[in-house]
Amino acid sequence: MVEHNKDIIANAEYVVEFGPEAGRNGGKIVFQGTIEKYKKAKTPTSKYVFSEKASEVDYERNPSQKAKAMQKHTLEIKGITRNNFKNFNLKFPLGSLVCISGNIGTGKSTLLGIAYGALFKGKDAWKHRVGFKSIEGKTHVRRSYFVDQSLLSSIPTSTPATYLGVWEVIRDVYASLPQSKKMKLKKSHFSFNTQNGKESVELIEKIRYKKLSINDLMKMTIDEAIGVFNDFPLVQRKLGFLQEVGLGYLTLGQKSKTLSGGEAQRVRLAKILSKKLGDRCLYILDIPSRGLHLSDLPTLVKVMQKIIDKTNTVLIAENREELINNSDFQIKL
Ligand SMILES: Nc1ncnc2c1ncn2[C@@H]1O[C@H](COP(=O)(O)OP(=O)(O)OP(=O)(O)O)[C@@H](O)[C@H]1O
Ligand SMILES: [Mg+2]
Repeated sequence: MVEHNKDIIANAEYVVEFGPEAGRNGGKIVFQGTIEKYKKAKTPTSKYVFSEKASEVDYERNPSQKAKAMQKHTLEIKGITRNNFKNFNLKFPLGSLVCISGNIGTGKSTLLGIAYGALFKGKDAWKHRVGFKSIEGKTHVRRSYFVDQSLLSSIPTSTPATYLGVWEVIRDVYASLPQSKKMKLKKSHFSFNTQNGKESVELIEKIRYKKLSINDLMKMTIDEAIGVFNDFPLVQRKLGFLQEVGLGYLTLGQKSKTLSGGEAQRVRLAKILSKKLGDRCLYILDIPSRGLHLSDLPTLVKVMQKIIDKTNTVLIAENREELINNSDFQIKL
């Protein structure tokens, strides 16, 4: 079994740890052997599994002044009656990281769903406002967002860069080059979805930006590509979000369906950052640490703090002690 949960690892008889890092810098066996030997091995993961202090890791969140001011306000959803709840009051401070924890089936997702519905904005919003009696403090929250955990894309050629709209802009760059215009090549010719004939494949290979064809670009990492697009701040900005969540080592051509679970989760975080972040909103995430290793948690917390700093509130359901301990307000079911 593949597992990040420290309690499960600690109860295994035999452990294989991969590393040392992700992507190109990983793929090696860092440790392999019995749990007794693993305890003494002091690898990054064994240190985490066998240290009492791991759950006390401090992620050094420094909330902005605006977020602190927001913390004076609370939101209360009263009289929640749904699934296993009868007349339950959900109350938490705004401008904070709020964590709902509890065993399987205790109602974490139910509460997230109620909160989402209560602050939903859009068509037929009244239909979503069900399962509770009243709400207080709503004047300080404009709307709710549920951060989607579904598949990144069902399109086989999709990449993290397509997901963030980077390829759209890169194709514009290639289509606007003088050679492209001369050869009558349009933006669509530079798409991976187009079934280009052999002739146009050869033509496209000839179109170079800074001596790089689209195919050369696909083999480059995000870190490398950022340097190439000095003249296109929009490309740099979008790639920057992937870099910020620690995915700079991925190549531009790597398909979304080949990403690891934790990498896919990071791409979703990059997407949140790439959209213009709202203010005074409630962002809801159901088990954001799913698939993440201890070493990924600081990045997750950093992104959530960035959201909060714009006067938003982040409401999560989560049982990882590192995240429970680092949240501003805890609700234990
Ligand atoms: N649509 C439904 N109809 C009836 N019961 C439901 C429905 N949805 C959830 N439940 C029940 O309500 C309880 C709470 O479910 P919920 O999904 O909120 O738990 P959870 O804390 O998120 O669990 P998990 O940790 O497994 O995600 C469970 O007992 C579940 O079986
Ligand atoms: Mg749940």
